[in-house]
Amino acid sequence: MERDEPARSTGYRSVSRRAFLAGGAAGVASASLSACVPESRDRQAAGVRLTAPAGTGDEAWARVREQFVLERGVAYMNNASLGMPPASVAAAVGAGYEALSQEPLRAKNELSEAIAGRVRPGLAAMLGAEPDELALTRNASEALHIGAFGVRLRRGDEVLVTSQEHPAGLRPWEMRAERDGVRVSKVTIPSPLESADQTVALVEEALTPATRVVAFCHVTRGGHLYPVRRLCALARERGCVSHVDGAQAVGMFPVDLHDLGCDTYSASLHKWFLGPMGTGVFYVRAAARDRVASVFAPGEVEGGAVYRPPGTSALPLRAALAASLEFLEDVTVEAVEARTRHLSDYLKARLAQIDRATLLSGDNREVCCPGSTIFELEGVDAVEAVGLVAERAQIHIDEHQRDGHNAIRVSTHVYNTQAEIDRLATTLEEL
Ligand SMILES: Cc1ncc(COP(=O)(O)O)c(C=O)c1O
Repeated sequence: MERDEPARSTGYRSVSRRAFLAGGAAGVASASLSACVPESRDRQAAGVRLTAPAGTGDEAWARVREQFVLERGVAYMNNASLGMPPASVAAAVGAGYEALSQEPLRAKNELSEAIAGRVRPGLAAMLGAEPDELALTRNASEALHIGAFGVRLRRGDEVLVTSQEHPAGLRPWEMRAERDGVRVSKVTIPSPLESADQTVALVEEALTPATRVVAFCHVTRGGHLYPVRRLCALARERGCVSHVDGAQAVGMFPVDLHDLGCDTYSASLHKWFLGPMGTGVFYVRAAARDRVASVFAPGEVEGGAVYRPPGTSALPLRAALAASLEFLEDVTVEAVEARTRHLSDYLKARLAQIDRATLLSGDNREVCCPGSTIFELEGVDAVEAVGLVAERAQIHIDEHQRDGHNAIRVSTHVYNTQAEIDRLATTLEEL
Protein backbone atom coordinates (compact mmCIF):
# COMPACT_ATOMS: atom_id res chain seq x y z
CA MET A 1 0.00 0.00 0.00
CA GLU A 2 1.15 3.55 -0.60
CA ARG A 3 2.41 5.54 2.35
CA ASP A 4 -0.68 6.97 3.97
CA GLU A 5 -1.52 10.60 4.21
CA PRO A 6 -2.31 11.54 7.81
CA ALA A 7 -5.90 10.76 8.67
CA ARG A 8 -7.96 13.96 8.71
CA SER A 9 -9.62 14.92 11.95
CA THR A 10 -13.04 14.07 10.59
CA GLY A 11 -12.06 11.42 8.10
CA TYR A 12 -12.77 7.72 8.39
CA ARG A 13 -11.15 7.27 11.83
CA SER A 14 -7.91 5.38 11.27
CA VAL A 15 -8.47 5.27 7.52
CA SER A 16 -6.47 7.66 5.44
CA ARG A 17 -8.23 9.69 2.79
CA ARG A 18 -5.90 8.40 0.14
CA ALA A 19 -6.56 4.75 1.04
CA PHE A 20 -10.26 5.39 0.92
CA LEU A 21 -10.19 7.30 -2.34
CA ALA A 22 -7.97 4.66 -3.91
CA GLY A 23 -10.55 2.08 -2.94
CA GLY A 24 -8.25 0.70 -0.26
CA ALA A 25 -10.64 -1.80 1.22
CA ALA A 26 -7.83 -2.90 3.45
CA GLY A 27 -7.48 0.48 5.08
CA VAL A 28 -11.21 0.91 5.36
CA ALA A 29 -11.61 -2.55 6.87
CA SER A 30 -9.23 -1.64 9.63
CA ALA A 31 -11.48 1.22 10.71
CA SER A 32 -14.51 -0.52 12.05
CA LEU A 33 -13.86 -4.23 12.21
CA SER A 34 -10.42 -4.30 13.72
CA ALA A 35 -11.69 -5.86 16.91
CA CYS A 36 -13.26 -8.86 15.28
CA VAL A 37 -11.26 -9.70 12.17
CA PRO A 38 -9.14 -12.84 12.06
CA GLU A 39 -5.43 -12.58 11.59
CA SER A 40 -5.50 -12.85 7.83
CA ARG A 41 -7.72 -9.81 7.55
CA ASP A 42 -5.31 -7.96 9.81
CA ARG A 43 -2.66 -8.84 7.27
CA GLN A 44 -4.88 -7.50 4.58
CA ALA A 45 -5.45 -4.38 6.64
CA ALA A 46 -1.69 -4.03 6.86
CA GLY A 47 -1.55 -3.88 3.10
CA VAL A 48 -1.03 -7.54 2.21
CA ARG A 49 -3.41 -8.11 -0.68
CA LEU A 50 -5.18 -11.29 -1.69
CA THR A 51 -4.03 -13.09 -4.81
CA ALA A 52 -5.77 -15.55 -7.14
CA PRO A 53 -5.72 -18.93 -5.37
CA ALA A 54 -3.68 -21.64 -7.07
CA GLY A 55 -6.38 -24.23 -7.64
CA THR A 56 -10.11 -24.61 -7.11
CA GLY A 57 -10.23 -26.74 -3.93
CA ASP A 58 -11.19 -25.68 -0.41
CA GLU A 59 -7.62 -25.53 0.81
CA ALA A 60 -6.55 -23.11 -1.90
CA TRP A 61 -9.52 -20.88 -1.06
CA ALA A 62 -9.20 -20.97 2.74
CA ARG A 63 -7.59 -17.55 2.95
CA VAL A 64 -10.26 -16.00 0.74
CA ARG A 65 -12.94 -17.63 2.89
CA GLU A 66 -11.49 -15.95 5.97
CA GLN A 67 -12.44 -12.57 4.54
CA PHE A 68 -16.13 -13.29 5.22
CA VAL A 69 -17.71 -12.85 8.64
CA LEU A 70 -20.66 -15.24 8.41
CA GLU A 71 -21.76 -16.59 11.78
CA ARG A 72 -20.05 -19.81 12.72
CA GLY A 73 -22.12 -22.90 11.97
CA VAL A 74 -24.23 -21.21 9.28
CA ALA A 75 -23.79 -22.09 5.61
CA TYR A 76 -24.99 -19.53 3.08
CA MET A 77 -25.88 -20.90 -0.35
CA ASN A 78 -28.37 -18.30 -1.54
CA ASN A 79 -26.05 -15.96 -3.32
CA ALA A 80 -28.33 -15.68 -6.35
CA SER A 81 -30.82 -13.85 -4.12
CA LEU A 82 -28.43 -11.69 -2.18
CA GLY A 83 -24.65 -11.81 -2.06
CA MET A 84 -22.66 -12.01 1.14
CA PRO A 85 -20.05 -9.24 0.95
CA PRO A 86 -16.62 -9.71 2.49
CA ALA A 87 -15.82 -7.84 5.71
CA SER A 88 -13.87 -5.19 3.82
CA VAL A 89 -17.04 -4.16 1.97
CA ALA A 90 -19.13 -3.96 5.14
CA ALA A 91 -16.39 -1.91 6.78
CA ALA A 92 -16.15 0.46 3.81
CA VAL A 93 -19.91 1.11 4.02
CA GLY A 94 -19.61 1.85 7.75
CA ALA A 95 -16.61 4.10 7.25
CA GLY A 96 -18.40 6.08 4.57
CA TYR A 97 -21.46 6.74 6.72
CA GLU A 98 -19.30 7.60 9.68
CA ALA A 99 -17.38 10.12 7.62
CA LEU A 100 -20.67 11.69 6.53
CA SER A 101 -21.69 12.05 10.15
CA GLN A 102 -18.40 13.69 11.03
CA GLU A 103 -18.17 16.24 8.22
CA PRO A 104 -20.97 15.85 5.68
CA LEU A 105 -19.79 18.23 3.02
CA ARG A 106 -16.22 17.07 2.84
CA ALA A 107 -17.23 13.41 3.07
CA LYS A 108 -19.78 13.90 0.31
CA ASN A 109 -17.12 15.37 -1.96
CA GLU A 110 -14.63 12.67 -1.13
CA LEU A 111 -17.11 9.85 -1.61
CA SER A 112 -18.16 11.37 -4.93
CA GLU A 113 -14.51 11.57 -5.97
CA ALA A 114 -14.00 7.92 -5.02
CA ILE A 115 -16.98 6.92 -7.14
CA ALA A 116 -15.93 8.96 -10.16
CA GLY A 117 -12.22 8.27 -9.85
CA ARG A 118 -12.17 4.64 -8.79
CA VAL A 119 -15.54 2.89 -8.84
CA ARG A 120 -16.89 3.76 -12.29
CA PRO A 121 -13.51 3.37 -14.06
CA GLY A 122 -12.81 0.13 -12.16
CA LEU A 123 -16.21 -1.29 -13.03
CA ALA A 124 -15.80 -0.22 -16.65
CA ALA A 125 -12.41 -1.94 -16.87
CA MET A 126 -13.83 -5.11 -15.32
CA LEU A 127 -16.90 -5.11 -17.57
CA GLY A 128 -15.20 -4.20 -20.85
CA ALA A 129 -16.92 -0.80 -21.21
CA GLU A 130 -16.07 2.88 -21.06
CA PRO A 131 -16.73 4.63 -17.72
CA ASP A 132 -19.05 7.03 -19.54
CA GLU A 133 -21.21 4.09 -20.66
CA LEU A 134 -22.05 3.09 -17.06
CA ALA A 135 -24.59 4.59 -14.67
CA LEU A 136 -24.76 3.38 -11.07
CA THR A 137 -28.22 2.38 -9.87
CA ARG A 138 -29.76 0.87 -6.75
CA ASN A 139 -30.20 -2.56 -8.31
CA ALA A 140 -30.84 -4.43 -11.55
CA SER A 141 -34.59 -3.74 -11.46
CA GLU A 142 -34.04 0.01 -11.53
CA ALA A 143 -31.57 -0.36 -14.40
CA LEU A 144 -33.97 -2.61 -16.35
CA HIS A 145 -36.75 -0.04 -15.94
CA ILE A 146 -34.51 2.83 -17.06
CA GLY A 147 -33.55 0.82 -20.13
CA ALA A 148 -37.03 -0.37 -21.06
CA PHE A 149 -38.65 3.03 -20.66
CA GLY A 150 -35.83 4.68 -22.59
CA VAL A 151 -35.98 2.67 -25.82
CA ARG A 152 -37.59 4.80 -28.54
CA LEU A 153 -40.67 2.85 -29.70
CA ARG A 154 -43.85 3.59 -31.64
CA ARG A 155 -47.35 2.16 -31.22
CA GLY A 156 -47.44 -1.33 -32.76
CA ASP A 157 -43.70 -1.94 -32.39
CA GLU A 158 -42.95 -5.34 -30.90
CA VAL A 159 -40.74 -6.32 -27.98
CA LEU A 160 -39.69 -9.96 -27.79
CA VAL A 161 -39.03 -11.35 -24.29
CA THR A 162 -38.34 -14.92 -23.22
CA SER A 163 -40.41 -17.09 -20.90
CA GLN A 164 -37.71 -17.09 -18.21
CA GLU A 165 -37.42 -13.37 -17.47
CA HIS A 166 -37.48 -11.94 -13.97
CA PRO A 167 -40.50 -9.65 -13.34
CA ALA A 168 -38.12 -6.69 -13.55
CA GLY A 169 -37.25 -7.78 -17.07
CA LEU A 170 -40.90 -8.12 -18.02
CA ARG A 171 -43.00 -5.59 -16.09
CA PRO A 172 -41.60 -2.39 -17.66
CA TRP A 173 -42.42 -3.73 -21.13
CA GLU A 174 -45.95 -4.61 -20.00
CA MET A 175 -46.31 -1.06 -18.73
CA ARG A 176 -45.11 0.25 -22.07
CA ALA A 177 -47.71 -1.94 -23.74
CA GLU A 178 -50.43 -0.29 -21.64
CA ARG A 179 -49.05 3.22 -21.95
CA ASP A 180 -47.58 3.31 -25.46
CA GLY A 181 -49.40 0.57 -27.38
CA VAL A 182 -46.24 -1.50 -27.78
CA ARG A 183 -46.82 -5.25 -28.34
CA VAL A 184 -44.98 -7.70 -26.06
CA SER A 185 -44.50 -11.21 -27.38
CA LYS A 186 -42.95 -14.07 -25.46
CA VAL A 187 -40.85 -16.93 -26.77
CA THR A 188 -40.86 -20.10 -24.69
CA ILE A 189 -37.38 -21.37 -23.91
CA PRO A 190 -37.34 -24.83 -22.32
CA SER A 191 -35.96 -25.26 -18.81
CA PRO A 192 -33.41 -26.77 -18.63
CA LEU A 193 -32.08 -25.24 -21.84
CA GLU A 194 -31.29 -27.86 -24.47
CA SER A 195 -28.52 -26.03 -26.31
CA ALA A 196 -27.31 -22.60 -27.35
CA ASP A 197 -28.24 -23.45 -30.96
CA GLN A 198 -31.81 -24.27 -29.97
CA THR A 199 -32.15 -21.07 -27.91
CA VAL A 200 -30.93 -18.91 -30.81
CA ALA A 201 -33.21 -20.77 -33.25
CA LEU A 202 -36.27 -20.28 -31.02
CA VAL A 203 -35.60 -16.56 -30.64
CA GLU A 204 -34.97 -16.21 -34.37
CA GLU A 205 -38.26 -17.93 -35.23
CA ALA A 206 -40.13 -15.60 -32.87
CA LEU A 207 -38.82 -12.40 -34.51
CA THR A 208 -41.22 -10.59 -36.82
CA PRO A 209 -40.77 -7.57 -39.09
CA ALA A 210 -42.30 -5.48 -36.27
CA THR A 211 -39.78 -6.58 -33.59
CA ARG A 212 -37.72 -3.63 -32.36
CA VAL A 213 -36.33 -4.99 -29.06
CA VAL A 214 -35.08 -8.41 -27.95
CA ALA A 215 -34.99 -8.61 -24.14
CA PHE A 216 -33.44 -11.55 -22.30
CA CYS A 217 -31.33 -12.65 -19.33
CA HIS A 218 -27.66 -13.42 -19.42
CA VAL A 219 -28.27 -16.04 -16.71
CA THR A 220 -31.82 -16.98 -15.73
CA ARG A 221 -33.00 -17.23 -12.15
CA GLY A 222 -32.67 -20.99 -12.54
CA GLY A 223 -29.01 -20.61 -13.53
CA HIS A 224 -29.43 -21.33 -17.25
CA LEU A 225 -26.96 -19.50 -19.43
CA TYR A 226 -28.28 -17.81 -22.57
CA PRO A 227 -25.98 -17.42 -25.62
CA VAL A 228 -25.87 -13.64 -25.18
CA ARG A 229 -23.27 -12.83 -27.83
CA ARG A 230 -25.18 -14.74 -30.51
CA LEU A 231 -28.55 -13.31 -29.46
CA CYS A 232 -27.13 -9.76 -29.54
CA ALA A 233 -25.68 -10.39 -33.01
CA LEU A 234 -29.07 -11.67 -34.15
CA ALA A 235 -30.82 -8.60 -32.73
CA ARG A 236 -28.30 -6.33 -34.47
CA GLU A 237 -28.77 -8.11 -37.81
CA ARG A 238 -32.52 -7.51 -37.55
CA GLY A 239 -32.16 -3.89 -36.53
CA CYS A 240 -33.38 -4.55 -32.97
CA VAL A 241 -32.14 -3.16 -29.66
CA SER A 242 -30.69 -5.91 -27.44
CA HIS A 243 -31.66 -5.38 -23.80
CA VAL A 244 -29.84 -7.78 -21.48
CA ASP A 245 -30.52 -8.59 -17.83
CA GLY A 246 -27.17 -9.47 -16.26
CA ALA A 247 -28.32 -9.58 -12.61
CA GLN A 248 -27.18 -13.19 -12.25
CA ALA A 249 -23.98 -12.87 -14.25
CA VAL A 250 -21.77 -9.97 -13.14
CA GLY A 251 -19.17 -11.18 -10.65
CA MET A 252 -19.76 -14.88 -11.30
CA PHE A 253 -17.69 -15.05 -14.48
CA PRO A 254 -15.96 -12.54 -16.77
CA VAL A 255 -18.37 -10.27 -18.64
CA ASP A 256 -17.11 -8.12 -21.52
CA LEU A 257 -19.91 -5.81 -22.62
CA HIS A 258 -18.27 -4.55 -25.82
CA ASP A 259 -17.50 -8.10 -26.83
CA LEU A 260 -21.07 -9.26 -26.06
CA GLY A 261 -22.33 -6.51 -28.35
CA CYS A 262 -25.44 -5.68 -26.30
CA ASP A 263 -27.08 -2.27 -26.52
CA THR A 264 -28.13 -2.14 -22.87
CA TYR A 265 -27.08 -4.29 -19.93
CA SER A 266 -28.45 -4.13 -16.40
CA ALA A 267 -26.97 -5.81 -13.34
CA SER A 268 -27.17 -6.01 -9.58
CA LEU A 269 -23.87 -5.56 -7.81
CA HIS A 270 -25.18 -7.01 -4.52
CA LYS A 271 -25.33 -10.59 -5.79
CA TRP A 272 -22.30 -12.31 -7.35
CA PHE A 273 -20.22 -9.13 -7.39
CA LEU A 274 -20.40 -9.05 -3.56
CA GLY A 275 -21.18 -5.35 -3.35
CA PRO A 276 -23.25 -3.66 -0.65
CA MET A 277 -27.00 -4.29 -0.75
CA GLY A 278 -28.63 -1.58 -2.84
CA THR A 279 -26.12 -1.31 -5.68
CA GLY A 280 -26.49 -1.96 -9.38
CA VAL A 281 -25.35 -0.75 -12.77
CA PHE A 282 -26.91 0.25 -16.08
CA TYR A 283 -24.93 0.20 -19.33
CA VAL A 284 -25.84 1.78 -22.65
CA ARG A 285 -23.43 1.20 -25.52
CA ALA A 286 -22.26 4.63 -26.69
CA ALA A 287 -23.36 3.89 -30.26
CA ALA A 288 -26.87 2.96 -29.05
CA ARG A 289 -27.59 6.30 -27.35
CA ASP A 290 -29.71 7.57 -30.21
CA ARG A 291 -32.04 4.53 -29.83
CA VAL A 292 -32.20 4.53 -26.02
CA ALA A 293 -33.34 7.87 -24.65
CA SER A 294 -32.66 8.93 -21.10
CA VAL A 295 -35.83 8.77 -19.00
CA PHE A 296 -34.44 11.68 -17.00
CA ALA A 297 -33.44 13.96 -19.89
CA PRO A 298 -35.29 12.53 -22.91
CA GLY A 299 -34.06 15.02 -25.48
CA GLU A 300 -30.37 14.55 -24.76
CA VAL A 301 -28.11 11.90 -26.21
CA GLU A 302 -24.75 13.57 -25.52
CA GLY A 303 -22.66 11.52 -23.08
CA GLY A 304 -23.65 8.71 -20.76
CA ALA A 305 -24.27 10.92 -17.73
CA VAL A 306 -27.87 11.49 -18.89
CA TYR A 307 -28.77 7.91 -17.84
CA ARG A 308 -27.75 8.40 -14.21
CA PRO A 309 -30.70 8.57 -11.82
CA PRO A 310 -30.77 12.14 -10.51
CA GLY A 311 -30.83 13.31 -6.91
CA THR A 312 -29.13 12.29 -3.71
CA SER A 313 -27.87 8.73 -3.71
CA ALA A 314 -26.34 6.40 -1.12
CA LEU A 315 -22.76 7.52 -1.69
CA PRO A 316 -21.24 5.28 1.02
CA LEU A 317 -22.76 2.20 -0.63
CA ARG A 318 -21.49 3.21 -4.04
CA ALA A 319 -18.05 4.19 -2.77
CA ALA A 320 -17.79 0.84 -0.96
CA LEU A 321 -17.99 -0.85 -4.37
CA ALA A 322 -14.29 0.02 -4.47
CA ALA A 323 -13.78 -2.66 -1.84
CA SER A 324 -15.74 -5.24 -3.86
CA LEU A 325 -13.72 -4.29 -6.91
CA GLU A 326 -10.48 -4.66 -5.02
CA PHE A 327 -11.56 -8.08 -3.77
CA LEU A 328 -12.49 -9.30 -7.25
CA GLU A 329 -9.47 -7.71 -8.94
CA ASP A 330 -7.16 -9.44 -6.45
CA VAL A 331 -8.86 -12.83 -6.46
CA THR A 332 -9.75 -12.42 -10.18
CA VAL A 333 -13.15 -13.11 -11.71
CA GLU A 334 -11.62 -15.95 -13.75
CA ALA A 335 -10.67 -17.71 -10.50
CA VAL A 336 -14.17 -17.06 -9.09
CA GLU A 337 -15.63 -18.76 -12.15
CA ALA A 338 -13.34 -21.78 -11.76
CA ARG A 339 -14.07 -22.06 -8.04
CA THR A 340 -17.84 -21.70 -8.35
CA ARG A 341 -17.77 -24.26 -11.19
CA HIS A 342 -15.78 -26.62 -8.98
CA LEU A 343 -18.32 -26.29 -6.16
CA SER A 344 -21.39 -26.75 -8.35
CA ASP A 345 -19.79 -29.77 -10.05
CA TYR A 346 -19.24 -31.25 -6.61
CA LEU A 347 -22.85 -30.48 -5.64
CA LYS A 348 -24.13 -32.11 -8.82
CA ALA A 349 -22.08 -35.24 -8.13
CA ARG A 350 -23.52 -35.42 -4.59
CA LEU A 351 -27.08 -34.89 -5.87
CA ALA A 352 -26.57 -37.68 -8.40
CA GLN A 353 -26.21 -40.03 -5.42
CA ILE A 354 -29.68 -39.11 -4.12
CA ASP A 355 -32.28 -41.36 -5.80
CA ARG A 356 -35.15 -38.89 -5.35
CA ALA A 357 -33.22 -35.93 -6.81
CA THR A 358 -33.70 -34.86 -10.42
CA LEU A 359 -31.05 -32.44 -11.55
CA LEU A 360 -32.29 -29.59 -13.77
CA SER A 361 -28.88 -27.99 -14.24
CA GLY A 362 -26.94 -30.32 -16.48
CA ASP A 363 -23.29 -30.87 -17.30
CA ASN A 364 -23.43 -28.79 -20.47
CA ARG A 365 -21.38 -25.70 -19.61
CA GLU A 366 -22.60 -23.95 -22.72
CA VAL A 367 -26.07 -23.54 -21.18
CA CYS A 368 -25.35 -23.87 -17.48
CA CYS A 369 -23.83 -21.10 -15.34
CA PRO A 370 -21.08 -21.91 -12.83
CA GLY A 371 -22.76 -20.77 -9.60
CA SER A 372 -26.44 -21.80 -9.42
CA THR A 373 -27.85 -25.32 -9.43
CA ILE A 374 -31.51 -26.33 -9.49
CA PHE A 375 -33.05 -29.75 -8.84
CA GLU A 376 -36.29 -31.36 -7.73
CA LEU A 377 -36.64 -33.75 -4.84
CA GLU A 378 -39.44 -36.24 -5.34
CA GLY A 379 -42.22 -35.90 -2.76
CA VAL A 380 -40.82 -32.66 -1.32
CA ASP A 381 -42.29 -29.19 -1.71
CA ALA A 382 -39.40 -26.83 -2.51
CA VAL A 383 -40.68 -23.96 -0.34
CA GLU A 384 -41.03 -26.29 2.65
CA ALA A 385 -37.60 -27.76 1.95
CA VAL A 386 -35.97 -24.31 2.21
CA GLY A 387 -37.41 -23.82 5.71
CA LEU A 388 -36.56 -27.33 6.85
CA VAL A 389 -32.97 -27.18 5.65
CA ALA A 390 -32.47 -23.85 7.43
CA GLU A 391 -34.01 -25.19 10.63
CA ARG A 392 -32.24 -28.55 10.70
CA ALA A 393 -28.83 -27.72 9.30
CA GLN A 394 -28.50 -23.91 9.36
CA ILE A 395 -28.04 -23.88 5.62
CA HIS A 396 -29.67 -21.14 3.54
CA ILE A 397 -30.87 -22.14 0.10
CA ASP A 398 -33.84 -21.03 -2.04
CA GLU A 399 -36.80 -22.39 -3.95
CA HIS A 400 -37.33 -22.19 -7.71
CA GLN A 401 -41.02 -22.88 -8.20
CA ARG A 402 -41.24 -21.45 -11.68
CA ASP A 403 -40.70 -22.46 -15.30
CA GLY A 404 -42.87 -25.49 -14.50
CA HIS A 405 -40.61 -26.74 -11.71
CA ASN A 406 -40.94 -27.47 -8.03
CA ALA A 407 -37.21 -26.96 -7.71
CA ILE A 408 -34.70 -26.12 -5.03
CA ARG A 409 -31.98 -23.62 -5.96
CA VAL A 410 -28.53 -23.77 -4.43
CA SER A 411 -26.25 -20.88 -5.34
CA THR A 412 -22.72 -21.42 -4.10
CA HIS A 413 -20.03 -18.73 -4.10
CA VAL A 414 -16.30 -18.98 -3.48
CA TYR A 415 -16.64 -19.08 0.32
CA ASN A 416 -18.67 -22.30 0.39
CA THR A 417 -16.94 -25.61 1.00
CA GLN A 418 -17.31 -29.24 0.03
CA ALA A 419 -18.01 -30.05 3.69
CA GLU A 420 -20.98 -27.65 3.62
CA ILE A 421 -22.23 -29.30 0.43
CA ASP A 422 -21.91 -32.73 2.08
CA ARG A 423 -23.94 -31.42 5.00
CA LEU A 424 -26.59 -30.14 2.61
CA ALA A 425 -26.73 -33.47 0.74
CA THR A 426 -27.17 -35.39 3.99
CA THR A 427 -29.93 -33.03 5.11
CA LEU A 428 -31.73 -33.35 1.76
CA GLU A 429 -31.51 -37.15 1.91
CA GLU A 430 -33.27 -37.06 5.27
CA LEU A 431 -36.15 -34.81 4.21
C1 LIG B 1 -32.48 -12.54 -13.50
C2 LIG B 1 -32.77 -11.45 -12.52
N1 LIG B 1 -33.05 -10.22 -12.97
C3 LIG B 1 -33.32 -9.20 -12.13
C4 LIG B 1 -33.33 -9.40 -10.77
C5 LIG B 1 -33.63 -8.25 -9.88
O1 LIG B 1 -32.48 -7.90 -9.18
P1 LIG B 1 -32.52 -6.71 -8.11
O2 LIG B 1 -33.31 -7.21 -6.95
O3 LIG B 1 -31.09 -6.47 -7.80
O4 LIG B 1 -33.16 -5.57 -8.73
C6 LIG B 1 -33.04 -10.66 -10.25
C7 LIG B 1 -33.06 -10.90 -8.80
O5 LIG B 1 -33.01 -11.98 -8.30
C8 LIG B 1 -32.76 -11.72 -11.16
O6 LIG B 1 -32.50 -12.95 -10.72
